[in-house]
Amino acid sequence: MKFQLSTALVGFAATAVLAQDNQSASFTLHVKGTNYNSEIDGYGFSCHAGAAISGLCYAEGQLPNASVISNSYRYNFNYSGFNQVGDDQVGTLVWGQPYTDENGNPASVSQAMSLVYQPTSNVAAPLFGFGQNVLLVGFDAEGGLFGYNYYDDSKFVAGQQPTDYTPKAYYQWAVCWQYFTGYYYQSVAWVQTGAPRNPTCEAVEITKVDI
Ligand SMILES: *[C@@H]1O[C@H](CO)[C@@H](O)[C@H](O)[C@H]1NC(C)=O
Ligand SMILES: *[C@@H]1O[C@H](CO)[C@@H](O)[C@H](O)[C@H]1NC(C)=O
Ligand SMILES: *[C@@H]1O[C@H](CO)[C@@H](O)[C@H](O)[C@H]1NC(C)=O
Repeated sequence: MKFQLSTALVGFAATAVLAQDNQSASFTLHVKGTNYNSEIDGYGFSCHAGAAISGLCYAEGQLPNASVISNSYRYNFNYSGFNQVGDDQVGTLVWGQPYTDENGNPASVSQAMSLVYQPTSNVAAPLFGFGQNVLLVGFDAEGGLFGYNYYDDSKFVAGQQPTDYTPKAYYQWAVCWQYFTGYYYQSVAWVQTGAPRNPTCEAVEITKVDI
């Protein structure tokens, strides 16, 4: 038993090393309120939320033109081809966290967006760091960012194993004032289900804008 387990772990580690993600070109994230009277219209950017940790903050207004778009506004999409929703690839939203390497030169480490859940809320905060709760996402044909899942617990029946594992796109983005890792920011949020418990949240759509 012990032997089998360690063999499985070695196999898993080898697979993990071999699985090289394809990475899209850089893009920015346009964030726009979906309520008719919403004034939310701007861009997502990575904001400091601890050592080598960044939130996905909201900045109102237009971006400067491409020659001067700073790293904080640039994101990439990593995908392996393993999951799709219809024709749309599913993968991770990644950001290059800058740091200074051992020779004092500027470097960056690629971090996937994960979610920080609050036990007493239905609003979760995206975070770029080394977290485990990576959110699988994709972009639809219009460039809209969606969250991904392949089962729906609202359809569960007691004692019956679910049979529908159809991959689906979910659009549950908001911009809210959120508190995470000791910082309080107006930032992008993922509303897990229903109306957001946080009263500062406004529903938004997030669209990829190629640079
Ligand atoms: C972008 O901004 C730079 C710096 O302000 C300017 O020199 C350049 O002409 C602008 N490019 C476009 C396409 O507007
Ligand atoms: C990843 O990139 C390689 C090389 O360009 C390509 O052959 C492959 O089809 C890509 N995979 C997906 C899922 O797009
Ligand atoms: C995203 O893909 C690129 C290219 O394969 C890779 O260098 C990078 O480490 C990946 N990022 C993450 C967070 O896995």
